[in-house]
Amino acid sequence: MKFNTKTIHGGQKHDPAYGAVMPPIYQTSTYAQTTPGGHKGFEYSRTHNPTRKALEDALASIENGKFGLAFGSGLAAIDAIIKLLKSGDEVISTNDLYGGTYRLFTKIFEDFGIKFHFIGMDNADKIANYINDNTKLIWVETPTNPMMNIINIKAMAEVSRKHNLLLAVDNTFATPYLQRPLDLGADIVMHSATKYIGGHSDLVMGALIVKNEELAKKLYFIQNASGAVCGPQDSFLALRGIKTLHIRMQRHCENGEAIAKYLKSHSKIEKVYWPGFDDHPGHNVAKEQMDGYGGMISFVTKGSNYDSAIKIVENLKIFTLAESLGGVESLAGHPASMTHASIPKEEREKTGVVDSLIRLSVGIEDVDDLIADLEQAIG
Ligand SMILES: Cc1ncc(COP(=O)(O)O)c(C=O)c1O
Repeated sequence: MKFNTKTIHGGQKHDPAYGAVMPPIYQTSTYAQTTPGGHKGFEYSRTHNPTRKALEDALASIENGKFGLAFGSGLAAIDAIIKLLKSGDEVISTNDLYGGTYRLFTKIFEDFGIKFHFIGMDNADKIANYINDNTKLIWVETPTNPMMNIINIKAMAEVSRKHNLLLAVDNTFATPYLQRPLDLGADIVMHSATKYIGGHSDLVMGALIVKNEELAKKLYFIQNASGAVCGPQDSFLALRGIKTLHIRMQRHCENGEAIAKYLKSHSKIEKVYWPGFDDHPGHNVAKEQMDGYGGMISFVTKGSNYDSAIKIVENLKIFTLAESLGGVESLAGHPASMTHASIPKEEREKTGVVDSLIRLSVGIEDVDDLIADLEQAIG
């Protein structure tokens, strides 16, 4: 089955009760048993729920995995991955990543004795210097949030295989429409399904997808034991979102390209970060491992600072100034004071997240209106 068919049919069955084409919202915490243990495969909704199961099967299908797991947020999904580890273990993570992931690693899991090394991942050879007997996991986000750096997933998979490590890839920005990390050798794909998977800014959710059964069992155990699951209503919404993922992503990519090019040609713009440009340092890798470049763009205007960047985002009228990304509507953000405020200034500036950086999540509106909005806001 090809991707554009999988988004609609992948992993899905018509509901056995009445043939409902969309999985019903099984708004129930529990399931009747005829005798203790005598149930129809579902006993308690933290463990299993039919609507969540339909979503998890759809997620596994679109990522070319075998097992999907849905969580109450993207961070809950990341939390489950790190719970595969124990005190004394070490993680090598990209140094340019979502601020909340950094906060979870450094403010929660470091206290449990897990060590994180944050490094630039432009070259897989660099990783070797940080690997020792305690290293268990490589954490990759690509494209990175918000600098749009590209990390070579195949090269990272080679390193992780050689040293018997797990490779987890946050695929939130690319989505499986553009990039399928399991096909490139990753062990775990993670999503903030809040973003493009849901696609309509109406839910908060996380997802993991794996191929390996042993690993899936461990993660299902953690999902049930820690209990950070999503509810059936949100599962239904995410499933509905997945059905149009391919069409939305196609338009996000087209609009993203037009806006990236518009910004690059603008006399007041100093730098545009978008992996589709030939001169982007990760362009060749992106070309190889992605099927397009997406609708996420970061930029800096000439001579700008904290205040002038804030003024631009405040001036926007169609782009909404808001946290988050990946919805049908265009959003603008100021990473230094919003999504990445939890990273200390000196740390975030090392990776380019300066006070004047603006991040756009380009939606699927008419691109002429979006460009006109940027034109009036930048001035
Ligand atoms: C790349 C990335 N990963 C993970 C997360 C966390 O996801 P959530 O907000 O659904 O917990 C986000 C949120 O913005 C994100 O952008």
